[in-house]
Amino acid sequence: MERVLPFRWDEGEGVFWLLDQRRLPLEEVWVPVRTAKEMAEAIRAMVVRGAPAIGVSAAFGMVLAHLRGEDPVEADRLLRQSRPTAVNLFYALDRMRPHWGSAEGSLEEAKALWREVEETEGAISRHGARVLRGQVLTHCNTGPLATGGFGTALGAILEAHRQGRVTHVWVDETRPYLQGARLTAFELMKAGVPATLIADSMAGFLMAQGRVDAVIVGVDRMALNGDFANKIGTYALAVLARHHGIPFYAALPLSSVDPNLPTGEGIPIEERPPEEVLELKGVRLAPLGFPAYHPAFDLTPHRYLTGIVTEKGVLYPPFDEALRDALGLA
Ligand code: MRU
Repeated sequence: MERVLPFRWDEGEGVFWLLDQRRLPLEEVWVPVRTAKEMAEAIRAMVVRGAPAIGVSAAFGMVLAHLRGEDPVEADRLLRQSRPTAVNLFYALDRMRPHWGSAEGSLEEAKALWREVEETEGAISRHGARVLRGQVLTHCNTGPLATGGFGTALGAILEAHRQGRVTHVWVDETRPYLQGARLTAFELMKAGVPATLIADSMAGFLMAQGRVDAVIVGVDRMALNGDFANKIGTYALAVLARHHGIPFYAALPLSSVDPNLPTGEGIPIEERPPEEVLELKGVRLAPLGFPAYHPAFDLTPHRYLTGIVTEKGVLYPPFDEALRDALGLA
């Protein structure tokens, strides 16, 4: 299967190249990142996005800080401030901290993080494929572009399609940033998977018609009880799926679980510029001067989940016990 990755590492030059996801799917433009400061800005501006991809990029940001002689304390601070919700950013930066003083150590750790993304997502895809069948609906973008590996929710969909289990994918456009329309559609097309784009508001109608057999989404941060933050619109899908008796799964590496949070209440939800709601590619949609609100993520309570797909298998309720067990916590 053709897989487009969101970044590549040029070891000779010490440059991390990002595929500019703001320009996809119409243009494939690669952006060189040479410093941690530039990396923090690229993450903030959504040149690279998706929880695991942000984590790997931040780790390489610390490698670049070392190569370019930036102060590691300042580099770490800038990267931590780039986006608030996906815990993978903080997980990756915590992993890099013991290697601040060593060029070799920090590069090895960043590469190990990237390798782990690949390995865990291979397992997530295999486990997730077993619970999917027929027509599947997904939200946002959770494929290789969002991770640097095989993808989480979309990885499972791609594997289930390869096995002949999934026949068709409904792709939520994912207003307002359109990750579904721009990125998931791009990835499914490259993979040759039959799929159809819908506006987010159409999901309930399709469910009522019996045309959705399962919903699977990714995760930006999960609490220890299974509550999770994901792209805005996920909560509405979860409620709709429950109402229609449709299985609803979240797929994530266990590194997306925040071991410090007992419930989802403490998850910081990013607010993005209202212009992203008010405008489309610079074209104004609403009357000038009209206000808009743009929370980029929402919170889905664990009670709406049928199962949690992880690299250690699919977890079922009670999720607090299952997650603690999978994480090896007492
Ligand atoms: O704002 P984004 O594009 O970074 O949001 C991405 C998502 O919400 C994904 O669903 C999530 O990161 C999981 S990616 C495997």
